[in-house]
Amino acid sequence: MEAYKIQQHKYDVVVVGAGGAGLRATFGLAEKGLKAACITKVFPTRSHTVAAQGGIAAALGNMGEDDWRFHFYDTIKGSDWLGDQDSIEYMCREAIPSILELEHYGVPFSRTDDGRIYQRPFGGMTTHYGKGTAQRTCAAADRTGHAILHTLYQQALAHDATFFVEYFAIDLIWDNDGVCRGVLALDMNEGTLHLFRGQSVVLATGGYGRAYFSATSAHTCTGDGGGMVLRSGLALQDMEFVQFHPTGIYGAGCLITEGVRGEGGYLTNAKGERFMERYAPSAKDLASRDVVSRAMTMEIREGRGVGEHKDHVHLNLMHLGPEVIHERLPGIAESARIFAGVDVTKEPIPVLPTVHYNMGGIPTNYHGEVVQKKGDDVDAVVPGLFAIGEAACVSVHGANRLGSNSLLDLVVFGRAVSHRCAELIKPGTAHKDLPSSALDQALARFDGLRNANGGTPTAKIRANMQRTMQDDAAVFRTSESLKAGCGKISQVFDSFKDVRVSDRSMVWNSDLIETLELSNLLGQAVATMYSAEQRHESRGAHAHEDYPERDDHNWQKHTMVSVDESGKTSFDFRPVHMYTLTNEVEVVPPKKRVY
Ligand code: FUM
Repeated sequence: MEAYKIQQHKYDVVVVGAGGAGLRATFGLAEKGLKAACITKVFPTRSHTVAAQGGIAAALGNMGEDDWRFHFYDTIKGSDWLGDQDSIEYMCREAIPSILELEHYGVPFSRTDDGRIYQRPFGGMTTHYGKGTAQRTCAAADRTGHAILHTLYQQALAHDATFFVEYFAIDLIWDNDGVCRGVLALDMNEGTLHLFRGQSVVLATGGYGRAYFSATSAHTCTGDGGGMVLRSGLALQDMEFVQFHPTGIYGAGCLITEGVRGEGGYLTNAKGERFMERYAPSAKDLASRDVVSRAMTMEIREGRGVGEHKDHVHLNLMHLGPEVIHERLPGIAESARIFAGVDVTKEPIPVLPTVHYNMGGIPTNYHGEVVQKKGDDVDAVVPGLFAIGEAACVSVHGANRLGSNSLLDLVVFGRAVSHRCAELIKPGTAHKDLPSSALDQALARFDGLRNANGGTPTAKIRANMQRTMQDDAAVFRTSESLKAGCGKISQVFDSFKDVRVSDRSMVWNSDLIETLELSNLLGQAVATMYSAEQRHESRGAHAHEDYPERDDHNWQKHTMVSVDESGKTSFDFRPVHMYTLTNEVEVVPPKKRVY
């Protein structure tokens, strides 16, 4: 193995990722006097949070009655009773101060006539425990993620946080006692290796949407944190739950915000029918995403799709009028023009359910501390390791996330991590020496991939993975498709042994970076397919046609999946937290869903 020179950096806390969660954590840590470094593979304001459109939920009650308890109830129901109710209580309560803070930091929210933050309706968001429609989603037109990301980055800079931009995190570094002590990263621009020491490492690396062929996720969403966690021998949670957003642009996959339906837009089939009225008579087009995506798929399957191949449906917003579109939905008007050639004031947008969000991820408690099952302790904290945002599974979204609860999750739990680290870490505490072999495995893997001399290019293996996931871990799943999918994805995983990296250099080696990213994706693709195969029920985004009912007796539990070096999976389970943090809300017991 080539002898690599490694530069060492010491911080109180190291955050990996500079999306909404990573920036909120970094800035919060710096604000509390901790020396914080944020390492990120893309420039912070290019992180995928920039693409979030419709808004961020909080029961501010600016546009009618609301209460965080209603939000709590909706989130549990939306999760199909797989969400941890203590974490959901924490998120829905803390939503209110967290959003007011954002406003004070400078997020340019849209405004009501009397100057309050504008809030729009979103799917599954109700008042009075399902009786009314809530206007709960705070919006900056349809560019809310962009507005939040830029504000948080400015705040992080104002608080002197240190950024290492275009650094790729390779692997976590552990001591012999199972404490996470840092992360090894490659400076892609200089081609140098760096060890970042931290009393804690916070993974804010986003989802792994790019395991699929068609996704609203950026091409950078390669689940780098989840990959590092699997390689550390830890389990991921609830990986079978992958959200399809109902309205990706047909063909291109770009997101058309649910805010369109929140503002009054609706879906139609080839007969011009507003078909959601049949599937969800009460919530209609604002039913939760799992319900709308399944309804669209049924319409297409039954021959009522639109277009030459009858393989998509229409999203109509012409009736909203150019003024509303210009003021509240300017971004999607532009996307529809560029990617579908459609003038939304005159024609409907062709749309199709598209992979959008991973409910599963690195299991944590509501402080953001990574947890694992250890003997009788089902919530054992992994010392030194935190995870937040889409990389994590807190689990506030359970089996299905409600739209606009994702930006909220980023901000609330990014903030929670900064609180927790400030409680646990004394600024400037000396770092323990690492065992001499601490870096060996990470370096050997890096060197092996850099010099990989097989016969299969990275792009070919990636395409095989994406096709397999798209075909066999889709909106609807069957025992047959999942069994076939497990066989195929294992073969794809095995084919990585034969990967070829043609460029051996250390500087801007995109061939190597894409290969490192693919290896992160592959473990999570295997975890997703096998987790889906073993869950014999339908719940939230997991619609299993051979087990069409939700089965609370046998399956109201979190799946824990590990994937070893050879791609072999092993399973365990954690109970769902059916308890709350305070006595201000009651536990919401499972009941049959009525839409
Ligand atoms: O439709 C949207 O604007 C997406 C929001 C979300 O996923 O939370």
